[in-house]
Amino acid sequence: MAAIPVFDSEAVLAAVSPADAIARTRTAFERHAAGEWAMPAKVYVDAPPNGDFRAMPARGDGLATLKWVTSFPHNPERGLPVVAGALLASSAETGALVAIMDCAAITSLRTGAAAAVSAQALARADAGSVGVIGCGVNGAWAARCLAAAGYGPGTCFDPRAEAAASLAAELGWETGELAEAAARDVVVTVTPAAEPVIGEPGLRAGQHLAVLGADARGKAEVEAAALARCSLFCDEWEQASKGGELSGPVAAGLVERERVTELGDVLLGRAPGRRDDEEITLFDSTGLATQDLGIALGVLEAWREGRIDTPTVSLGPSDQAG
Ligand SMILES: NC(=O)c1ccc[n+]([C@@H]2O[C@H](COP(=O)([O-])OP(=O)(O)OC[C@H]3O[C@@H](n4cnc5c(N)ncnc54)[C@H](O)[C@@H]3O)[C@@H](O)[C@H]2O)c1
Repeated sequence: MAAIPVFDSEAVLAAVSPADAIARTRTAFERHAAGEWAMPAKVYVDAPPNGDFRAMPARGDGLATLKWVTSFPHNPERGLPVVAGALLASSAETGALVAIMDCAAITSLRTGAAAAVSAQALARADAGSVGVIGCGVNGAWAARCLAAAGYGPGTCFDPRAEAAASLAAELGWETGELAEAAARDVVVTVTPAAEPVIGEPGLRAGQHLAVLGADARGKAEVEAAALARCSLFCDEWEQASKGGELSGPVAAGLVERERVTELGDVLLGRAPGRRDDEEITLFDSTGLATQDLGIALGVLEAWREGRIDTPTVSLGPSDQAG
């Protein structure tokens, strides 16, 4: 029976550094945009009143992955994570299951890395300072990835003062008020998106906003008037228009397809990114299964090269008896 490696959160994070995650996430955007990696639509399974589950499949570079993951926004109130679940990786050649991975670590790496890739592609060349709004699990990884990409120092804001303070201390950044964080060159929002945190009066010419928190219908972090001032980019139109920051404005007829550019097209040079230093760019991240695939490839590579060790399991008939 084939031994299948099982990667817990620690093993995933040991396998793929923030810098590696950025490179792999960039590749994922490019491969997806080029049509080389497949990504059927993600399936939402509502679990009221707790949140929802998502099933996120992808295939590319010989691997097929399925991430089964939660977004349970009220879980922190009972000491549980918002994002939990597992990623299954199978050989696209034989169909054999080749790995089981913790999905929270994969999600954090690729979500944080997407913010960094969007900044590299869309922020002003002289952008440096970072504002982090929402310093929970994925906000912290966005900050780590932006720092790994050379951005900073930053201002961290979170109503949970201890979360902002701990992230600021880790990166040698500072804590500040919402308005201070929202005024930085690169602003990343990673809140539960229950109410907007970016308003039009606080915007500055030339900023780049990476809005990560709204990844399902009904969530929004940016007020409509602020959004109207921005040049709009997203990870994938299908997802973003139905379940991202853009979904509300799209449903209200305020934003049309022609106004929004997919990041992969910018990375491939097929579409323009930032046009001038005054423009405010906004990247709507909903999180692509192809990004998860990119990180999973990195985890498997590290294991096959002996850079990390992890336990294995066998899922054979003997295990299924009874
Ligand atoms: N785009 C993506 O790919 C992606 C990936 C993962 C998670 N998410 C979404 O990001 C959000 C955050 O996820 P998480 O796992 O980091 O959750 P988390 O609970 O660990 O962190 C959320 C943080 O936001 C803070 N917060 C709440 N209201 C705020 C406000 N008004 N201003 C500033 N901060 C505020 C909370 O105190 C908390 O620290 C969720 O909505 C989740 O669904 C998106």
